[in-house]
Amino acid sequence: MLYVGIDLGTSAVKLLLMDEKGQIKNIVSKEYPLYFPNPGWSEQKPEDWYTGVMEGLKELMADCDKSQVAGISFGGQMHGLVILDENDNVIRPALLWNDGRTFEETDYLNNVIGKEKLSEYTANIAFTGFTAPKILWVKNKEPENFKKIKKIMLPKDYIAYMLTGVNATDVSDASGMLLMDVKNRCWSKEMCDICSITTDMLPKLYESYECIGTVKEDIAAELGIPATCKVAAGAGDNAAAAVGTGTVGDGMCNISLGTSGTIFISSKNFGVDKFNALHSFAHADGSYHLMGCMLSAASCNKWWMDEIIGTKDYAAEQKDITDDKLGNNHVYFLPYLMGERSPHNNPNARGTFIGLTMDNSRADMTQAVLEGVAFALRDSLEVAKSLGIKIERTKICGGGAKSPLWKKIIANVMNLKVDVIESEEGPALGGAMLAAVANGEYASVEAAADAIVKIIDTVEPTQELVDRYEARYQQFKQIYPACKPVFEIIK
Ligand code: XUL
Repeated sequence: MLYVGIDLGTSAVKLLLMDEKGQIKNIVSKEYPLYFPNPGWSEQKPEDWYTGVMEGLKELMADCDKSQVAGISFGGQMHGLVILDENDNVIRPALLWNDGRTFEETDYLNNVIGKEKLSEYTANIAFTGFTAPKILWVKNKEPENFKKIKKIMLPKDYIAYMLTGVNATDVSDASGMLLMDVKNRCWSKEMCDICSITTDMLPKLYESYECIGTVKEDIAAELGIPATCKVAAGAGDNAAAAVGTGTVGDGMCNISLGTSGTIFISSKNFGVDKFNALHSFAHADGSYHLMGCMLSAASCNKWWMDEIIGTKDYAAEQKDITDDKLGNNHVYFLPYLMGERSPHNNPNARGTFIGLTMDNSRADMTQAVLEGVAFALRDSLEVAKSLGIKIERTKICGGGAKSPLWKKIIANVMNLKVDVIESEEGPALGGAMLAAVANGEYASVEAAADAIVKIIDTVEPTQELVDRYEARYQQFKQIYPACKPVFEIIK
């Protein structure tokens, strides 16, 4: 049997075809535009996602025996607001996870409704990227659109809806809407009231590995696959990436270096970070996780390479950054190009180079970008450690994980052993694995991970580099608080 994983990302959709043993047969990627119509705004058109997915599926399955395609599932960019009217038309472009426009609504939720109440109802507080503040933004700023809303869904759920006609979501992705009671895995009536919506506008909740339906007849005919092909609910991209890297069960960690950067810690038990700096979400394996999310990670390096230096050869830019340079760079970079989520929760934070002197080279600045992302991820790791969570090793995935240098920097800045997985395709592989579980190929998500995920290398931190980076991190930590008042002035 064959299974398809669809990773509906921010820069592109990545599609992966796998057999029932987890052998990857093909991978295809289709890009689509990302719009920044105003500073801090970030939007995409759900119709573009759908076009990309359908073109991608056709290309992905072009050379396979399509009669064998038994399941499809997803990892999807989280938190995005997709709204449909009574005729199932998309009302406006989707507001994405890294959109910072909802600062007033976020403020209202955290300070008028109050963080305690939000935490009681959902296990989380409001961040500008979350879905509930976006619903309030549409209500406040676009009341004519708000009136038209009949269905509210997350990005990957729009694709599932187009493929199956079933309005469904999964508990991991729904956790990031700030509308779900994470502990009890159900919608929060209180949060719906606060957002002036009703639960019948929301999708039905499933576990990630549950089947929500089969592909519609016309879609099956267009793709040439059986109409019995099952679609599983899937997961938010981070939970799907965790599945794809075997970060399931208790106390496992995954770092994703994608457009966003996340540190994901799986847990058998429900738990809340008392500082609410880390998100407390449901996991795709039926349990829970804590997660810190930075809004710009590999995207900082992409911005620096593509837009500023003007090169596509990332490896060439990194080759002069030799071991003796690591931990010895006095240039720092704050990676807050889209504001920051974890742990600062500040949409006004900005990207910053600091510490430059005449002798600094372009390589030093490239190094500062890679290190700045690692230091910012460490900020979230420090929150986890302060909760008594002990982590010694992590998996890693995402585009940034292709760089051996970046993995070494992460290992030493965070003092973690970094396990490298055979496939870096975290969310797409995780999506395909969830489809296989929904089809009964494996008894559980953990069983699928045990059978499929293989560690092929481990990047070990060395004491010398850990010490050097510890000193640098202590300096890095002081830069954001010093810059914060300036970010308020220059916003
Ligand atoms: C997680 C988050 C991002 C997006 C990226 O909370 O906002 O990781 O899911 O697609």
